[in-house]
Amino acid sequence: MEINGANSINGEIKIPGDKSISHRSAIISSITKDTIVIKNYLFSQDCIRTLEVLRKLGVKIEKLDENLVICGKGIEGFREPNDILYAGNSGTTIRLLPGILSATNFMSILSGDSSVNNRPMARIVEPLRKMGAQIYGREENSKAPIVIFGNKNLKGRIFNTDISSAQVKSCITLAGLFAEGETEILQPRTSRDHTERMLEFFGANITFDGKQTKIIPDRQLKGKNLFIPGDLSSAAYFIVASLILKNSRILIRDIGVNPTRCHFLELIEKMGARIKITNKRIMNNEPIADIESESSMLNGQIIDKEFIPNIIDEIPVLCVAAAFAEGRTEISGAEELRFKESNRISAIASQFKKAGVDIEEKEDGFIIYGNSKLKISEGPLESFKDHRIAMSLAILGLRSRGKIKIMDSDYIDTSFPSFKYELKKSLN
Ligand code: S3P
Repeated sequence: MEINGANSINGEIKIPGDKSISHRSAIISSITKDTIVIKNYLFSQDCIRTLEVLRKLGVKIEKLDENLVICGKGIEGFREPNDILYAGNSGTTIRLLPGILSATNFMSILSGDSSVNNRPMARIVEPLRKMGAQIYGREENSKAPIVIFGNKNLKGRIFNTDISSAQVKSCITLAGLFAEGETEILQPRTSRDHTERMLEFFGANITFDGKQTKIIPDRQLKGKNLFIPGDLSSAAYFIVASLILKNSRILIRDIGVNPTRCHFLELIEKMGARIKITNKRIMNNEPIADIESESSMLNGQIIDKEFIPNIIDEIPVLCVAAAFAEGRTEISGAEELRFKESNRISAIASQFKKAGVDIEEKEDGFIIYGNSKLKISEGPLESFKDHRIAMSLAILGLRSRGKIKIMDSDYIDTSFPSFKYELKKSLN
């Protein structure tokens, strides 16, 4: 992908469906006994992987116009796959599904691409084993491929986890649906609660408050049609573009503003962003709103560790905003970034430095010395096959002197296939 410096960005931007909620809508609909129509499903590489895996498990899934139709037959309707279940680049696919596969009566093998197969899996394997799951992974159960021998004897438990990960929490919660007795998960910081909200919407006996989730497996889920809100993590690239370019103003409609996800908006407002959130409403148990943003003078911020899980996917593009803000931005407590699709701390630090940003890498984050007049240097930048790094570098490049080339930018399709089209359409 080649990016030239741009003057401004304007107009209405179409942001596709939320990645986290899309995965959950397909997985949770499959374990109901209902036919569910899902509107605005994200047809990106990652979310397509989840559909392929569910199809291999015997779930009937059809695309009808722009909608997805899932014919749930309950977990009893799942059948043993005759091939490995391939998650590709998708951490959510490979970390959520074992919660359900552990409670089937057959064997399954989950694998991914080289990035996924090197990401930590002990965080889901260990708790599932404690619930009675027969689940194994490479390197002493710490990496994928993962092998699961489903069994019907899962037991609910209380977990006090040391990381605050929605993928881990969701995996245990899904297993808890099929276990005997109550399952409770306590995490140190609040993480996204889309699984809990969707299960509650479908009538599950679940309580949650961000840090604590409790599930009692006594009710049949009642599936309902779903609308997937726009993905705030994808919207964030365009919002930052509008803040750092002159004479810019954009409008984005129907974006998910779940409180466990939208700390990014509060933060950039604190940095001085001129942003308006309107038309706030609830759809399918998820808050959504329209967002308008425009060119702004930004100031650096010290970011509170407490909120890191709520901005985890927005940190790369937040660093772009920080590069053009006056003063120092400090991000710490974000060591989880080293275990994403790439090592995002070293990826950002190395490529931002190459582009001329004054950035210091720390074990658990960064210090960025911003400059509102900064011009990005010309030349190639490496995305490390990571969609969020590629898109963040593209936004950084909008303030370049010349041409920026972003390597392996096709990985953007992981979460936002129409990114390049939307960007090209709205830039001047
Ligand atoms: C996700 C949770 C986050 C996030 C990822 C999607 C989810 O990961 O980074 O992109 O859908 O649950 P962790 O749960 O590992 O923090």
